[in-house]
This record gives sequence, C-alpha cells and structure tokens, in this order.
Amino acid sequence: MAPKTTDWDGPAYDRVSTPQQEWAKKVLERLPLEGDETVLDAGCGSGRVTRMLLDRLPRGRVVGVDGSPSMIETARESLGDEDRVSLIFSDLLELSPALLSREAGLSEVDDVFSNATFHWICDHQALFRALRSVMMPGGRLVAQCGGRGNVAEWVAAIRKVAARDPYAQHVGEFRPWNFYGPEETTERLEKAGFEQVHCELVEVEPVRPEDPRAFVRVVGLSAHRDRLPEELHEPFTDDVLGALEQPLQLTYVRLNMDAVAAEGA
Ligand SMILES: C[S@@+](CC[C@H](N)C(=O)[O-])C[C@H]1O[C@@H](n2cnc3c(N)ncnc32)[C@H](O)[C@@H]1O
Repeated sequence: MAPKTTDWDGPAYDRVSTPQQEWAKKVLERLPLEGDETVLDAGCGSGRVTRMLLDRLPRGRVVGVDGSPSMIETARESLGDEDRVSLIFSDLLELSPALLSREAGLSEVDDVFSNATFHWICDHQALFRALRSVMMPGGRLVAQCGGRGNVAEWVAAIRKVAARDPYAQHVGEFRPWNFYGPEETTERLEKAGFEQVHCELVEVEPVRPEDPRAFVRVVGLSAHRDRLPEELHEPFTDDVLGALEQPLQLTYVRLNMDAVAAEGA
C-alpha cells in the first residue's frame, strides 16, 4: 500500500512561502541548463517555484510531482495552461519510469530539482533510488532541504506541545521530518547510483514571517494537523505559537545536494 502523504493548504502556502521562494532562486542558480531540458520538480508544491524553473527552460519541459492534492490543485490553477508542464499527484517514493510514462508520456527526465521537500520524507535511501530510476545517466540532481539543526527552536516547541493532552494521543511521538547531515546524505546518494556527489550545510538569513500564525500553521504544522481531529487544529496552532518566543524568528539550516546520475546504475 502506498504510504500516506500529507495534504497541505495550497492557496495559503502560495501566499506565505516567500522565504522558500528566495531559497529556491539560489538552488536554481546551481543547476546548469541549456534551456531545452526536461526537469523534474520533486515536491513542486503550489507551483510558484515550478514557474521559476519553467522560465529557465524556454524550449524545455517541467514535470512537477507532489503528494498533496491541494498543492497540485493550486499548481494546476497557475500552470495548467502551460503545455510544457505536466503535474503529477504522487508520493515521490512511488516514482518510476512506468508512472512517468503513464502520467507525462516520458520515461526519463534529464535533471531533478527540488526545494524544501526532502526533509518531509523519512526514507532518503528509497527517495534517492526512486529519483535515480527516472533520470538519464549524466543528469544532475540539484536539491536543497532542511538539514541538521534546522529550526531547532520550532521543533522543540512542537514536541513540547504535542506531548501534552489533548494532543499526545494523536501526535505525541509523531516526527514528520528528518534533518540529515551531509556525510550520511553523500553515502545514500552514492548507494542510490549517483556520482560527483557534493553535500553541505548552509545557513540562511533568519526568517521573520509577516504573518507568523499563518506561516506556522501552513509551513510547519500541516503534517501534525493532518493527524489531529479538526476541533484541535486551531488550538494546536495557537499553543505552538504560544510556546515560541515573540516576535517570531526562525533559524533555518539548509542541506544542499549536488550529484550526477551515474552510468549503468
Ligand atoms: C515546503 S513545500 C515545498 C514546495 C516547493 N518545492 C517550494 O519550494 O515552494 C514541501 C512540499 O513537499 C511535498 N511532499 C512532502 N512529502 C512528499 C512525498 N512523499 N511525495 C511527494 N511530495 C511530498 C508536500 O506536499 C509539499 O508540497
């Protein structure tokens, strides 16, 4: 059975995700493109970043994959008229040449790009294998996600509140993210059939969200909210916000990944 992916609030994410968009600009700069490639946007979200990728590919094509119905719907609203874009609702762990062929009419992509997504997927070894399975040899993987030490104060606040009643029975032990380091990630990428692997942790500017409540609700708590009964959604958000120092400032640490799909892997 396919693992359950979390649904996000696509329209709200589209509004509050300016920091993610800023990081994505820099990640995109690391991807060398001629402009005619086909690139997979792994965890394309609401499509704002996918649009930036599409602009770098005037003669190329983008395949966006995301496991949230609301995110894919929002992306379809903004990109649906583009004939150079295919949007696929799927768990990234389910990616395969057969799925790509069925949903987008091709079995391989040249490159894979991803921003702010991989830390939401627990099994990175399986993720890298799935991505490699749809890449041409020589294609590049250029990605960034949360890395070791990411949003430590936020994680502590969520864990503290989740351990309390009435939340504990639903999300007490729930850990929807993994913030890995460069060493273990390099090893996993090489094992999955990548070479010329370079991974590093980078610090970015602290984030001071314009609308702290919306940011916390949409960006940090989607997976928890998904598992809580509806009547606890807003109280949980308020309690997490209350456990954080105000004015809200979040310290992000990102994990950059650059790798090339090896021949014959
Ligand atoms: C923080 S958003 C990033 C969206 C976009 N890349 C951006 O930079 O704005 C994380 C995205 O990863 C997606 N995601 C998380 N786990 C996933 C999985 N297992 N399969 C597919 N998408 C997943 C979520 O649905 C969400 O849209």
